[in-house]
Amino acid sequence: MTDIPVAERAANIEYAIRDVVVPATALEAAGHEILKLNIGDPIAYPGLPTPSHMVTAFQESLGRGETGYSNSYGLPELREAIAADERRKGWACSTDDVYVCHGVTEALQIIFAATLEAGDKVLAPGPHYPPYMAYPQMYGATTVEYRLNAEEGWRIDFDDIEAKMDDDVRLLVLINPNNPTGNVAGRDEIERMVAIAERHPNCMIIADEIYDGLDFTGTQVSAAAVSNTVPVLTLNGVSKVFYAPGWRIGYLAIHDPTGRMGAVQDGIERLLRCRLCASTPAQMGHLAGITGNRDWMEDYTTRLLAQREVCVDRIAHIEGLEVQSPGGAFYMFVRLTDAHWAADDKQFVLDLLHEEHVLLVHGSGFSPEMGAGHFRLVFLPGVDVLHEAFDRIDRFLQRHRTV
Ligand SMILES: Cc1ncc(COP(=O)(O)O)c(C=O)c1O
Repeated sequence: MTDIPVAERAANIEYAIRDVVVPATALEAAGHEILKLNIGDPIAYPGLPTPSHMVTAFQESLGRGETGYSNSYGLPELREAIAADERRKGWACSTDDVYVCHGVTEALQIIFAATLEAGDKVLAPGPHYPPYMAYPQMYGATTVEYRLNAEEGWRIDFDDIEAKMDDDVRLLVLINPNNPTGNVAGRDEIERMVAIAERHPNCMIIADEIYDGLDFTGTQVSAAAVSNTVPVLTLNGVSKVFYAPGWRIGYLAIHDPTGRMGAVQDGIERLLRCRLCASTPAQMGHLAGITGNRDWMEDYTTRLLAQREVCVDRIAHIEGLEVQSPGGAFYMFVRLTDAHWAADDKQFVLDLLHEEHVLLVHGSGFSPEMGAGHFRLVFLPGVDVLHEAFDRIDRFLQRHRTV
């Protein structure tokens, strides 16, 4: 008998970050220890735990028996706290503008489902976080990439956006700070993006600001605070800045400066009701993070910056690698300068994994065109692990030098 067919939309999905975990798991099962610099999960590395007051709030919620369904749009007290937090970032966010989801990833699915028809386009940065490519195709839409300029610290290439913009682009995506490059876009760049989107009446901006508290440049601003004309769908949550990715809590906040988002908002609400609600006790944990003292963040950031410096310094001394120090998030997107590896970054990642037991993610997994010839490294592990990983990467590159 032949296999029962799978839907094409599922058969075509790829998620590079987790796809490389499959061979790594096989090596682990064979008894090898793998140095994992592949996943943007702070909890996967010692030293950056979810803050204890958030964990306590989550536990206390469970203790009070708050294990029922919550409102589909989120707990009212959390929506209000998120709205207040967004207001502090500079725009008039009200409680009704906020929708709590199972992470930004669910918010993305809801946004795409509520806005995309066959033939529509999403214009997203290249390279980008993979779901921006994977999900729109489920609705018959396509994701087109605009260039982040590798020669200029991965700054947005506005000529490329202009060249690719048309009335079919329903969603123009800004990831700020960016995954995988760590680049931070400043106010002037967001203004340019708004000015371009403004010329296309049905275009909205997605502002994925999940790393906004991990901006090391001091220049990151909320896109909703910049736009007076174009609707902005702001995304954020607990996964990165509050170090709790496994809680699966995030939010979508809608900025509608010209009052044209009523139908889209209604569609979003229908979809949210259909999937019931986000986890109730996890929302209480998020609430504690937003309303609680944030002094702890300074220590976490100091640690991240020290780890970033180790990586930048080690890379500067390894023949075959190049990188520009990232301004935010906890990633760096490293260029393979040896032509042999630049031509096949996935092979580099797989060979390194098998020979030296270091796991990275191939750049082409973030964009076959604009990420090729690179790998993404996560600088969440402590300095000892990072030094050991770079010793191994250096050894590997020396062993395979082709010139
Ligand atoms: C740009 C970006 N957006 C969203 C997410 C995922 O967010 P969440 O855990 O809230 O689904 C990630 C995770 O790596 C990310 O890099």
